[in-house]
Amino acid sequence: MLYREMGQTGEKVSILGFGCMRLPIKGSYDQIDVERSSELLDHALNQGINYLDTAYPYHGRGTSQGGASELFLGEYFAGNSRRDEVYLATKSPTWLLEEEGDLDRFLDEQLKRLQTDCIDFYLLHSIKERQWFDLEDLGVLEFLDRATSDGRIKYTGFSTHDTTSFFKEVVDSYQWDMCQIQYNYLDEDIQAGKEGLQYAASKGVGVVIMEPLKGGVLANHVPVEVQKIWDESQFERKPAEWALRYLWDIPEISVVLSGMNTIAQLQENLNTAENGLPNSMASEEKQIMEEVKKVYMGKIAVECSACGYCMPCPSGINIPQCFSYLNQAEMLEEYSEVKSQYYFMLKETEMAGNCLECGLCEEICSQHLPIREKLKEVAGKMGN
Ligand SMILES: NC(=O)c1ccc[n+]([C@@H]2O[C@H](COP(=O)([O-])OP(=O)(O)OC[C@H]3O[C@@H](n4cnc5c(N)ncnc54)[C@H](OP(=O)(O)O)[C@@H]3O)[C@@H](O)[C@H]2O)c1
Repeated sequence: MLYREMGQTGEKVSILGFGCMRLPIKGSYDQIDVERSSELLDHALNQGINYLDTAYPYHGRGTSQGGASELFLGEYFAGNSRRDEVYLATKSPTWLLEEEGDLDRFLDEQLKRLQTDCIDFYLLHSIKERQWFDLEDLGVLEFLDRATSDGRIKYTGFSTHDTTSFFKEVVDSYQWDMCQIQYNYLDEDIQAGKEGLQYAASKGVGVVIMEPLKGGVLANHVPVEVQKIWDESQFERKPAEWALRYLWDIPEISVVLSGMNTIAQLQENLNTAENGLPNSMASEEKQIMEEVKKVYMGKIAVECSACGYCMPCPSGINIPQCFSYLNQAEMLEEYSEVKSQYYFMLKETEMAGNCLECGLCEEICSQHLPIREKLKEVAGKMGN
């Protein structure tokens, strides 16, 4: 296993991290298959993975209550005394925070669930621009100082799926040790994006990647035209290997998390990690990835440049975001992953289905897009 430093913490983290959001289950999502999940973790740890990522809601019945992922990890480490071999990362459920005491209450509950005295990396989970001021008012940053100095957490971080500008604002708001962003070869220009990644790294903030395979879509739903490019190249690689190598080539990335749920997937990603050195991709390889990216981009449904001239919409719709989700779904020929993000990230009033067809947006759209017609398409395909 190769290791990289996590920002300026001095900690050496494995370049492949284990995401505990998609553990093997028995039937429903909240019923973790303990035997198979333990086998996976045993194998991961034996092969040198030392970074595990979980969160309060993972493997839960919904975001309003704690899930089984933290509980499973607590039991797993209680049974094998290997806790010291890994860095445990978990997250504060920011959408459930209502009063200052909630921050301590959730952290204390998580320490119990994980059966540990200290969480190595504690993140504010999926923060959004619209709630950031409320979180600051609630005292989240003071809480992080307090919990670090009393030893309940070792390092601080945050994750977000929001815009680049918001991401940079958050990076500048605190002495973060690390951040977690969605990034893969198709997501260089959305959310934090390449600009955010480089910005965080330039400030000494460690960067952990989530959804490197877009939740599996880049590995398992490959369009025929893309597969043809892979097949015709001189390299014999599976799609997941291309996607992961692309990320490890980037020196600013510390850990790439993947949610592996079979030994075969885990072993394949471990094998790929063996060659995950920074700046190791040859120019022919990068050229092939550019061609693949072009094919995906050719499937884009709306040529929205997200300039934001159309905003604010009188009905409250977040027009650029609605188009971004439509584009991602069309590009990937896959709706379920993108749809869940659409419902998770947008307020109901921001969804395309609220369009009253006033047409004000079309008068000022820099790309002269038929916005009303395209919003109908979004609403039809996303279900609101
Ligand atoms: N902070 C946040 O808001 C947030 C959001 C999302 C994720 N995360 C964290 O980031 C972690 C990683 O994200 P992710 O789980 O979406 O990662 P991912 O690697 O993009 O997707 C995981 C899925 O990819 C497939 N896969 C993995 N390796 C494969 C291989 N070698 N060959 C074929 N398919 C493979 C599996 O799909 P199948 O199950 O379909 O086989 C697996 O469930 C999560 O587990 C979680 O810990 C955090």
